[in-house]
Amino acid sequence: MTFLLMMVRVLRLVFLLGIFLAFATHAQRDAYFIPSAVQTTASQAQFISDATLDGPKVHPINASVFDWWYFDVVSLDPSVLSSVVVTFFTTPQSAFPLLPASDSITLAYIWVSFPNGTLWAKAVSDLSRGATVEVAAGAYLVVIDAPDFGVTGTISFQPTAPAHYPCGPVAEGQSLKLSTHLGWENVIPDAVSVVDLRVDGVRLAFTGSAYHDKNWSDQPFGTHVASWYWGRGRLGAYSIVWWDILGLTGEESLSAYVARDNKIISASCKAGSVTARPVGENATYPPVLSTPNPAGYHVEFDLGKEGRLEVDVLVLANLIDVNPEYARFMGSMEGVVSSGNGNGDVGEKLVGMALFEQFKLTE
Ligand SMILES: *[C@@H]1O[C@H](CO)[C@@H](O)[C@H](O)[C@H]1NC(C)=O
Ligand SMILES: *[C@@H]1O[C@H](CO)[C@@H](O)[C@H](O)[C@H]1NC(C)=O
Ligand SMILES: *[C@@H]1O[C@H](CO)[C@@H](O)[C@H](O)[C@H]1NC(C)=O
Ligand SMILES: *[C@@H]1O[C@H](CO)[C@@H](O)[C@H](O)[C@H]1NC(C)=O
Repeated sequence: MTFLLMMVRVLRLVFLLGIFLAFATHAQRDAYFIPSAVQTTASQAQFISDATLDGPKVHPINASVFDWWYFDVVSLDPSVLSSVVVTFFTTPQSAFPLLPASDSITLAYIWVSFPNGTLWAKAVSDLSRGATVEVAAGAYLVVIDAPDFGVTGTISFQPTAPAHYPCGPVAEGQSLKLSTHLGWENVIPDAVSVVDLRVDGVRLAFTGSAYHDKNWSDQPFGTHVASWYWGRGRLGAYSIVWWDILGLTGEESLSAYVARDNKIISASCKAGSVTARPVGENATYPPVLSTPNPAGYHVEFDLGKEGRLEVDVLVLANLIDVNPEYARFMGSMEGVVSSGNGNGDVGEKLVGMALFEQFKLTE
């Protein structure tokens, strides 16, 4: 039984869950083994960047910390509701309560939507094995070989937009804090991806826009966050990522990213760099546990001398909507850049697709 996951070059994440294996095509630089049992000693989290992108950021994994690697691909055709999300957790449920109960902290999850919107998901873990993470440099290939779990195939990632940190481009000595106690790095903000999977005997093959980030914390999730919006997508020639987080004490944390032609136009966490707000039916801000999901979001980016990018995001499909705390969506986007020349000139209409989520953790 092998569920094989391979990220060529940048990161080789080997989840030896009895179902994950990996191949090295590249000399490894740093290798880390993460045992599947939760550790009982004090943990240390990294919140200032060094020369390594995408390695583990929390050592060891005790009951109150988490570390994740997240990958997604979304269709660029609004009439085709195909998507894939793969997440690798080295995370105990005590630190991230929305995870399924498991004795193992090394857990992988795959969620799929077929072209007609039909959903499929599976979580995989095995207490007897841990995970190995090896960090190098380049593009990614996720290889899944888990016939016993109903899924085999590959997901390739050819990056088209530069990596970044919460407040700016990748460089050593930068803050990795997205908000209080939450670390984040966006290793692949956008990529061309070819997905070719077989899920319970049905082929899911499409080309889309892909994304990879990782996040971590030295505290359990929910001890700081009241609600948040995250999203990302491809809009015309732009690759965009937004974070708009409301902390329990009412402070808002932001992170904006806009790139075009493989160059960063905006990467910032400054006030005003981005806002995301629900719009349309059921739009309530701030969202709380009892408020239903909105029909869409309005997201605005400050592009400095290039003006403002205004985006309307419309929910086309709920990819996860099983509890009030969390929802993941895919949807279409429309946007325009209004020029920064003071004349209010508005550019051509942009269209695209997004994958986005909301958390609401309080009433
Ligand atoms: C895990 O490590 C963190 C950071 O050192 C510490 O605050 C926390 O108490 C530890 N948790 C457990 C359950 O040992
Ligand atoms: C949607 O697609 C899936 C996967 O191909 C298929 O199993 C399912 O029957 C389809 N549902 C409908 C309503 O066509
Ligand atoms: C981690 O990042 C992924 C992708 O941005 C997101 O879906 C998830 O909610 C994040 N979770 C935490 C706990 O930060
Ligand atoms: C708005 O909320 C109602 C009640 O929960 C729900 O039935 C409806 O689907 C929601 N609308 C949207 C656009 O999600």
